[in-house]
Amino acid sequence: MKTLIKNGRIVTATDDYFADVLIDGETVNCIGKNLPVQADKVLDAAGKLVIPGAIDPHVHMELPFGGTVSSDDFRSGTLAAAHGGTTTIIDFAIQYKGKTFAQTIDEWDAKSEGKCAIDYSYHLAITEYEPRHQPEFKKIIDAGITTFKLFMAYPGVFMIDDQTMFRVMQSAGEAGGLTLVHAENGDAITQLINNLLAQGKVEPKYHAQSRPPTMQADGVARAVRVAEVAKAPVFIVHVSCEAAMKELQRSRDEGHPAYGETCTQYLFLDETYYDKPNFEGAKYVFTPPLVAKENIEPLWKGLKLGYLQEVSTDHCPFNFKGQKELGRGDFTKIPNGGPGVEDRLSIVYDGAVVKRGFSLNKWVEITSTASAKMFGMFPKKGTIAVGSDADIVIFDPHLERTISAKTHHMNCDYSLFEGWKIKGSPETVLSRGKVIIDNGQYVGRAGDGKFLKRGACAVM
Ligand code: URP
Ligand code: ZN
Ligand code: ZN
Ligand code: ZN
Repeated sequence: MKTLIKNGRIVTATDDYFADVLIDGETVNCIGKNLPVQADKVLDAAGKLVIPGAIDPHVHMELPFGGTVSSDDFRSGTLAAAHGGTTTIIDFAIQYKGKTFAQTIDEWDAKSEGKCAIDYSYHLAITEYEPRHQPEFKKIIDAGITTFKLFMAYPGVFMIDDQTMFRVMQSAGEAGGLTLVHAENGDAITQLINNLLAQGKVEPKYHAQSRPPTMQADGVARAVRVAEVAKAPVFIVHVSCEAAMKELQRSRDEGHPAYGETCTQYLFLDETYYDKPNFEGAKYVFTPPLVAKENIEPLWKGLKLGYLQEVSTDHCPFNFKGQKELGRGDFTKIPNGGPGVEDRLSIVYDGAVVKRGFSLNKWVEITSTASAKMFGMFPKKGTIAVGSDADIVIFDPHLERTISAKTHHMNCDYSLFEGWKIKGSPETVLSRGKVIIDNGQYVGRAGDGKFLKRGACAVM
């Protein structure tokens, strides 16, 4: 099957030109002006941007958390992602106590297999590291899972101690892997929570007060310094505030392989959202929490200057009705997480290109290419080039629409950006050569998406 995308403006992280793209089967076969070829299908992209499919490297589908389970499974979550122009996700396979790494991956395979609309992979989140796990690093890396994740938060559930952090970073680094860290001071936060509850402070806004930016900055400082001593690369997930970013920046400036991301919500929303009446602040209870507005422009600047590599969503939705409501009367019982996987590419276009004058190249970089390189998928993913997977979005930069839970495809009864009017939306989405979104309509099949074997980080 040959598909020809004609007359579009091709934008990658480095290039910007008008040409046709010929897809043969699953990959890009040829790029050129007025290609004299016969194709089975012709897509006219005149007036549109032709960009690599977006990559969201931080999502949690069907994640058990706080006595409930995140409301998107791999079927609904990847379908929503596809609608938004995302053609690859990386979820987190979380090791439960007593499980081997291999068993953990099997558990996540059981949730994802045959369900995905787009390609997918996992980071392996390690919560327990015994000597018997050590030989598993190489095996897991050989199986295409090259990134490991540690939580310095959620004590008693996912949190590891600093010795474990050191050992994982060292073992992962020696085996050619990259360690991702959720950086916070989990123990100090426990006491902050206890103090607030003892004072009867139970509303959603106290979630934010229990996790001040300083406690995230402390976690980042510790994680990057441990990585420096372990001589291992490190990647800090969901950096939400300037104080934390500065700790990362310090390590980078000293020449260490310390990288990071922020998420859509931190680039647009601030802590005042917790003041919404009728418990609606609970919709914004995720970790780390939203912070003061003064942090927003520094995060954008961090992306521009390269202290932060990309924008993910940390998509981990819970319905307001029945799930977020579990925390009425006790903010610690509000399941942590929010919906995001669908609208990231468009919202970041609006925020970066339309509102802040970022180049189109930079937009593609922070929503696709940087993740492909960082997490070992480049140039199969993250660019439009001969031989690359034909994961391509035909993006209409003029299309205006209003974001709403009424029209989104995420299995969540609210949107973090309800009623926002944005400019720019995906029109047609191809996953490995096959049209899966045609003029906004899903025309794919669950199971089109395949597990993606990743290689080593290609940034260092
Ligand atoms: O609130 C969040 N972010 N929930 C998902 C788990 C995590 O910490 O990434
Ligand atoms: Zn986290
Ligand atoms: Zn997360
Ligand atoms: Zn248009």
